[in-house]
Amino acid sequence: MLFVDSTDPTEIKDIYSWGIASGVTTNPLIFAREAGEADLEQRIREVLAVSHGHVSVELVAEDLPGMLAEAERYHGWAPDRICIKVPFGETGLKVTHELTTRKIATNVTCMMSFNQAYLAALAGGTYLSIFSGRVRDTGYDVRPTIAQTRAQLEREGLDGKIIIGSIRHLMDVNEALGAGAHIVTVTPTILRKMLHHPKTDEAIAEFNAAWHSRGK
Ligand code: E4P
Repeated sequence: MLFVDSTDPTEIKDIYSWGIASGVTTNPLIFAREAGEADLEQRIREVLAVSHGHVSVELVAEDLPGMLAEAERYHGWAPDRICIKVPFGETGLKVTHELTTRKIATNVTCMMSFNQAYLAALAGGTYLSIFSGRVRDTGYDVRPTIAQTRAQLEREGLDGKIIIGSIRHLMDVNEALGAGAHIVTVTPTILRKMLHHPKTDEAIAEFNAAWHSRGK
């Protein structure tokens, strides 16, 4: 499955019209880049209006009471649609566990290793976000982490779904899915690149040229 990694309602609406997207992920960096000082609630409501499936909104508070209060606020915007994105860590696990007991969907994020993803799955994370590009920045191949996490989820019957984010190249999408990711979250820029192949353009141009020159 593919999610759209963006906060831009115009782009998200357009990509949903392709029929390929099942959810949206956002983070504070994407929001700051795309929307600057815009109001978060208003922007997320615009995203909800043009999409279906979960829309992940990330916590920026850093202590347990603050994170839980922020989560309740986001959850209230659309209880069936908002997924609380929880930065991984000891406090993040406590937040994930607490939100899971309240039946609030979570996306545990910023994970780079199997150990982290396994802990997040045990805490009840609905989604487990592992960052492909940032793992590769450190000189490591992310595929064994994806495969090991997927295998452990299957062995223990854990419900968490692996999302691979931090996608930088088309090949990252292919490799993540091949290694066992349930979902890859992809920016509109890279999703548009997935459309193109020079031989496709060549074939369509050749067919149309033949059609228009028939009988001449
Ligand atoms: C998605 O959930 C992530 O927040 C996003 O893909 C991170 O991407 P980056 O590593 O390019 O910041």
